Amino acid sequence: MDRIIVEGGVPLKGEVSVSGSKNAALPILMATVLTKEPVIVRNVPRVRDVFTSLQLLEGLGAQCRWLGDHDVEVHAAKITSHEAPYELVKTMRASFVVLGPLLARTGRARVSTPGGCAIGARPVNLHISGIRQLGARVQLRFGYVEAHGERLVGARMWLDAPSVGATQNIMMAAVMAKGRTLIENAAREPEVQDLAKMLNSMGARISGAGSHVIEIEGASHLHGTDHSVIPDRIEAGSLMAAAAITGGDVLIRNAPVDQLDSVIAKLREAAVQIENTAAGLRVQRGVALKPVELRTLPYPGFPTDLQAQLMALLSIGDGTSIITETIFENRFMHALELLRMGADIAMKGATAVIRGVPHLSGAPVMATDLRASVSLVIAGLAADDVTDVGRVYHLDRGYEALEQKLASLGARIERVKGTSVQP
Ligand code: EPU
Repeated sequence: MDRIIVEGGVPLKGEVSVSGSKNAALPILMATVLTKEPVIVRNVPRVRDVFTSLQLLEGLGAQCRWLGDHDVEVHAAKITSHEAPYELVKTMRASFVVLGPLLARTGRARVSTPGGCAIGARPVNLHISGIRQLGARVQLRFGYVEAHGERLVGARMWLDAPSVGATQNIMMAAVMAKGRTLIENAAREPEVQDLAKMLNSMGARISGAGSHVIEIEGASHLHGTDHSVIPDRIEAGSLMAAAAITGGDVLIRNAPVDQLDSVIAKLREAAVQIENTAAGLRVQRGVALKPVELRTLPYPGFPTDLQAQLMALLSIGDGTSIITETIFENRFMHALELLRMGADIAMKGATAVIRGVPHLSGAPVMATDLRASVSLVIAGLAADDVTDVGRVYHLDRGYEALEQKLASLGARIERVKGTSVQP
């Protein structure tokens, strides 16, 4: 199994570009089944979750082909299967959002429930309840959600929590429903907005995406489109943390600056210099990191997907930082590995108290999810000696060419095949 070996201590310098957003691309790819016509999706990151999505779409009968490195054409002229199998859904929970578009297109869908997850229980009750309120008959059989509904009917609904996936799933189920749907307490994330933009370019009539209330007027049918995915705000934030932890000076091109307000504010509070220039976001750090307090929140609050990266950064801060995770109930697994690298972190429930230490020290480490894994790479960039990060397949799910991008900024980082490398 591949590993990533990082030899810490090099301040990152240079320029790097942000890829397309994984979490925007996945539901957008699922939305391609809403039309018989070809859909071109551009700026798609070449990451494993995207390949899994294409495999899922091909299983449904769609033809998928890459038009270049980052552009994909999906043509779902005919749907030949209504099933998203357990084998795929268990490897990528985001597959569950195919339920809404598949149901809207064909009147039925059979999608495996995703099961447990390393970062929390992550139920899908809100997805199912929303789809039921649109008039679909939904039952759970043999671990699959089976939904039927030849003609869905618009409804007014309230989400108990502003779930990103449930908002996307319900929005896609409702685009061709009869009449008007109102989703109240909808998720406001940029990835929801990008999906709404793509659906509108296919002929959907969605307004309010980005606010708490999304309104969808049912359209009779959707047509093909050509849509470019937004840049990845989480990759941009991860690169900012990497630049900052090494005391570097990095220009991050193509960063979605408007979507990073909460992140930029926290990094500035921690004494990281951030300048929004015409060429990109310039991130520098010349002084010791100041401690900060942060809570993860739904957008536009601080994203849970950057919590682990900030924890790695603050672990070498000059003082005591406090992080509270409010979105997922088990998202501190990286803290246990950071402790093995010499960090001083105490956890109680949803709160972690991080007492800054002068140095981290390299170690063999591994993580159980994507963002935890990247936080260990980030910690390794600043640690003494060698950090040997295992279970790299988590990173490959969502970061495109991570080690090449960091190496281009001067990091001593490489991917190796095989067993652990000890310093
Ligand atoms: N929730 C429910 N019931 C539901 C759905 C969600 O209780 O039916 C709860 C969840 O358990 C969680 C909260 O609502 O406590 C928020 O979950 P949400 O549904 O918003 O998350 P998601 O759609 O499953 C997406 C991203 C995650 C990101 C979260 C939060 C994708 C593919 N995934 O997940 O990204 O952390 O939103 O912003 O878009 C990642 O990229 O590493 C990642 C985990």
